[in-house]
Amino acid sequence: MITVALPKGRIADETLELFNKVFKQDFVFKDRKLVLEHMGFKFLLVRNQDVPTYVHYQAADIGVVGLDVLEEHESDLIRLLDLGIGKCKVVLGSAIGKDIDYRKPRVKIATKMPHITMKYFSKKAIAIDVIKLYGSIELAPLVDLSDGIVDIVETGATMKQNNLKIDEIIMDSSAYLIANKNSFYNKKQAILDLQSEFQSLVG
Ligand code: PRP
Repeated sequence: MITVALPKGRIADETLELFNKVFKQDFVFKDRKLVLEHMGFKFLLVRNQDVPTYVHYQAADIGVVGLDVLEEHESDLIRLLDLGIGKCKVVLGSAIGKDIDYRKPRVKIATKMPHITMKYFSKKAIAIDVIKLYGSIELAPLVDLSDGIVDIVETGATMKQNNLKIDEIIMDSSAYLIANKNSFYNKKQAILDLQSEFQSLVG
């Protein structure tokens, strides 16, 4: 049995679609169920940011998660394959007409990704205060909670409609197939088989 942690939403649906294609079977969660067992796999539906935790503690052998979440989580997991789905960018942004003033002694950056943010600014040797938020990050500079934001951009619509601009792209992200190190060692053949099946589907 291989346990697979999937992030609720579109990435889970697209990943199950890959399983459908590989095994020519329907892998579908029933209603509000969070666990699905089928064809020797046990799928778990978890919050996006929780996928690395499930895989790290081996509650799941493998998982699918955005590179942005992996970078933020900083845990030691095996990256097996870029699935090319869930594409987005992590960007530094600020209000249009109000650039971030780096002469200030402390620049305030709102984000739900404090690690990526700290790493980015420490490389530039800029001292910042990270203001940790859990969502609606784009609001922070509009009400002077912060000077800028580090956030995910997918279509760009949220930033645009809230009069924000992209100052810099910090990283490109897409969903990766990941594995726990012990699971990879113990279930190597099955995991490698799955990786190569997926590889041929996603190119
Ligand atoms: C993300 C991100 C932006 C939005 C960007 O939030 O934090 O707010 O999507 O998408 P866009 O460029 O297509 O407008 P998400 O919807 O994941 O919700 P969250 O803030 O609850 O994490």
